[in-house]
Amino acid sequence: MAVIQWTDSLATNVSKFDEQHKRLIKMINDLHEAMSSGKGKEAAGKVLVDLVNYCGTHFSAEEKLMITHNYPEYAAHKKLHDDLTKQALELKKGYEEGKPVITIELLTFLRNWLTNHINGTDKKYGPFLKSKGVA
Ligand code: FEO
Repeated sequence: MAVIQWTDSLATNVSKFDEQHKRLIKMINDLHEAMSSGKGKEAAGKVLVDLVNYCGTHFSAEEKLMITHNYPEYAAHKKLHDDLTKQALELKKGYEEGKPVITIELLTFLRNWLTNHINGTDKKYGPFLKSKGVA
């Protein structure tokens, strides 16, 4: 069973970022699948590392476009990205050091963080970027 389902209610209507959000959702679901199907710690760890890396790629892409168009809420948005990135890198380091970081609590945290961030923060840039001609 999926931990998160994409629904249109999560759409920012910036197509590139909606696709990236779908990919992040899939990665969280893949992490859950790797944990619950007994694929083992290494398989789950690989998904976790990919997820942390892809978060960086996604955040950078959003920030670049916000800067390009002088998005007025850029600084506050970037701070949220930076806080999560710091936590994610600590998690990745913990995993690489052999700590038991891949847990149900982690999945719950990732699911809540992503859905809250998309709904409460990312969706605000949608109308702004659309007004600048971003597809
Ligand atoms: Fe889609 Fe602001 O992360």
